Amino acid sequence: MESIKLNNGNSIPIVGLGVFQTRDGEETVNAVKWALEAGYRHIDTASYYHNEESVGIAIKESGIPREDIFVTTKVWNNAVRENRVQGALERSLARLDMDYVDLFLIHWPVDGFEAAWKTMESLYEQGMIKAIGLSNFHKHHVERIDAIANVAPAADQIESNPYFSNQELIDYLQGRGIAVEAWSPLGGTGGNIMEDALLQSLAEKYGKSPAQIIIRWNMQRGVIVLPKSTHQERIIQNFAVEDFELDEDDVAAISALDCGWRTGPDPDNFNF
Ligand SMILES: NC(=O)c1ccc[n+]([C@@H]2O[C@H](COP(=O)([O-])OP(=O)(O)OC[C@H]3O[C@@H](n4cnc5c(N)ncnc54)[C@H](OP(=O)(O)O)[C@@H]3O)[C@@H](O)[C@H]2O)c1
Repeated sequence: MESIKLNNGNSIPIVGLGVFQTRDGEETVNAVKWALEAGYRHIDTASYYHNEESVGIAIKESGIPREDIFVTTKVWNNAVRENRVQGALERSLARLDMDYVDLFLIHWPVDGFEAAWKTMESLYEQGMIKAIGLSNFHKHHVERIDAIANVAPAADQIESNPYFSNQELIDYLQGRGIAVEAWSPLGGTGGNIMEDALLQSLAEKYGKSPAQIIIRWNMQRGVIVLPKSTHQERIIQNFAVEDFELDEDDVAAISALDCGWRTGPDPDNFNF
């Protein structure tokens, strides 16, 4: 699978398996194992997802060397607010049964994120994390990081789907050399974006599924994409996206579906 170079020189596979709302235990172990069998080498979890232990088990049982797999986890809001970031990372590593993660993100821009960033820089220098980044940070939040950072954020994981392209923020981040990761790319659990008429017609045109069309749209925008599924055939399908290319007009037409429809909270207005 093609990769993107982070601003610290490390590579991140452009398609990763998301495991938000994938239940701890067999469901997560199976999803991650199926993904690794299908060729994925990038798993996106978070302490908030309560399934890091299962992610770690699946990776170990796969027999694939740890260093061949890119693992992201995130620090949750309470630990950011109270700057208990080091303890949070240590607990995530213990649950994953790993001695480092490839990418560690501040999950949401809650009060205290500047102090949390300074702690993350120190954990990065110590080698407990291969790259540090942000999630759900708007431009003005990133600028607050700029004001205090010695290490530039490697990535910002933000909402993006065809009805909420978030293109302005993506252009800003990519212009700064900050890799962009799209969360809920398929519209999230319970969404209906894949029923969209244009996506259905493009699926027919390319002989692919609407999910594959959306994943490809992200790849061609240079955006890392994290589809979630607990079904083996969908996990395989979501990774089978390297044997076709969308015409530029079609990429633009998907982007033009944007109607500002978020599936999740606005990072400027959330209450958790
Ligand atoms: N940083 C953040 O704040 C944040 C927030 C949300 C998400 N995320 C990350 O982004 C990842 C993806 O987002 P998400 O989990 O919200 O949703 P998503 O990937 O946009 O959509 C998942 C939904 O699509 C279905 N699906 C997957 N592949 C399909 C296919 N080929 N055909 C038809 N349906 C398909 C899944 O069903 P089944 O599982 O039943 O197959 C599930 O209902 C998360 O898992 C997480 O890693 C991060």
